[in-house]
Amino acid sequence: MDNFTFYSPTCFVFGRDTESQAGALVRRFGGSRVLIHYGGGSAVRSGLIGRVEASLKAEGLPCFLLGGVRPNPRSGLVYEGIELCKKENIDFILAVGGGSAIDSAKAIAAGTVYDGDFWDFYSGKRIENALPVGTVLTIAAAGSEGSPDSVITREDGMFKRGASGDAIRPKFSILNPALTQTLPPYQTAAGITDIMAHLYERYLTNTREVEVTDRLIEALLLTMIHEGPRVIEDPDNYDARANIMWAGMMAHNNSCGVGRSQDWNSHNIEHELSALYDCAHGAGLAVTLPAVFTYVMNHDIMRFAKVAVRVWGCQMDFDHPEVTAREGIEKLRRFFISIGMPRNFEELGAREEDIPVLVKALCRGDGRPGSISGFVTLDEADCEKIYRLML
Ligand code: NZQ
Ligand code: ZN
Repeated sequence: MDNFTFYSPTCFVFGRDTESQAGALVRRFGGSRVLIHYGGGSAVRSGLIGRVEASLKAEGLPCFLLGGVRPNPRSGLVYEGIELCKKENIDFILAVGGGSAIDSAKAIAAGTVYDGDFWDFYSGKRIENALPVGTVLTIAAAGSEGSPDSVITREDGMFKRGASGDAIRPKFSILNPALTQTLPPYQTAAGITDIMAHLYERYLTNTREVEVTDRLIEALLLTMIHEGPRVIEDPDNYDARANIMWAGMMAHNNSCGVGRSQDWNSHNIEHELSALYDCAHGAGLAVTLPAVFTYVMNHDIMRFAKVAVRVWGCQMDFDHPEVTAREGIEKLRRFFISIGMPRNFEELGAREEDIPVLVKALCRGDGRPGSISGFVTLDEADCEKIYRLML
């Protein structure tokens, strides 16, 4: 296991009706003038924004509203939010929604206290300072409610890039599983896929002797395999949604990723798809993961065989471990299809003729050196072959 520092100061408030505590939590974490930042309207229609606003007002906290965050959040609204925060002296940002609203809130939080262009953070500069952020989560997926990360798409060039820093870890996150019951089945399934991808991206490591995190990841994957179909079958199943919601947080606050190298090539390969086609991130991952894993499995066949046996219940073929490894990847692919995710480029809405554009943006875009690195280093030729495996 490698040396590590793990800092995860978020206060999680979990369970039914917990959004009524939003005002008290903002006050506890030092907010006095609050920006409520949310998405395209689901939280307004469900009455959640009204309840959150009432909770802040009950604490006497002035609040300002900025909605309109779209999935795969854009830089334009971030600039608008930064202007608003500066003009109104806002000192706390409360994101109400999913990964997109939370990531946009984190970008605004970092950009408001920075003199330069906030995009610097999405081009490699680490975030050291930000306004405090809190969240009320409405979809179990991205894990942004407990992560130090934010992913934004810049309209100019359509680059989708991530920024990181402990300063943008939420001060608190309110997780009420009942709020996810209004999700369309496709979004629920995309969230399940993203959570499993966060676990796999950590499982694919070049670090030896990491049994504790391997086992944590396996337990969470098994939970997702159990609870995913239950919630697709019965969207009102609170207990299944509760288990998925907490698994989604644990999958990405990095408690399962400490002390080991991680992959993230699949996420980078997918981000080009959701940047170009505006597809749901999880849906893009359902197509991406099996292709990447098939391409890189020979790098460490026993790791793929191990997850196949321990998580997917495959029989270990000691003479031909590649058979076991391949069987595990196939079971993962079929699982995604079974919960309603796309299986290939066509079902995702992607086009073969765009592959050169995707590869260029992935390997060269925004200053990249012609390759991406993770579990293995992939150059442009590798990435082209991977996108072709998705046809
Ligand atoms: O915008 P509204 O109207 O709220 O609708 C949203 C949106 O259309 C809808 N939705 C959310 N909660 C709902 C609901 N509809 C009905 N009832 C509810 N309770 O669902 C759609 C998707 O929302 P979004 O926030 O985009 O989903 P998700 O949480 O999957 O976030 C995806 C974004 O997070 C990034 C992705 O790249 C993508 O841009 N990621 C962020 C990460 C991080 N910050 O740590 C890590 C991830 O790997 C990921 O890359
Ligand atoms: Zn993800």
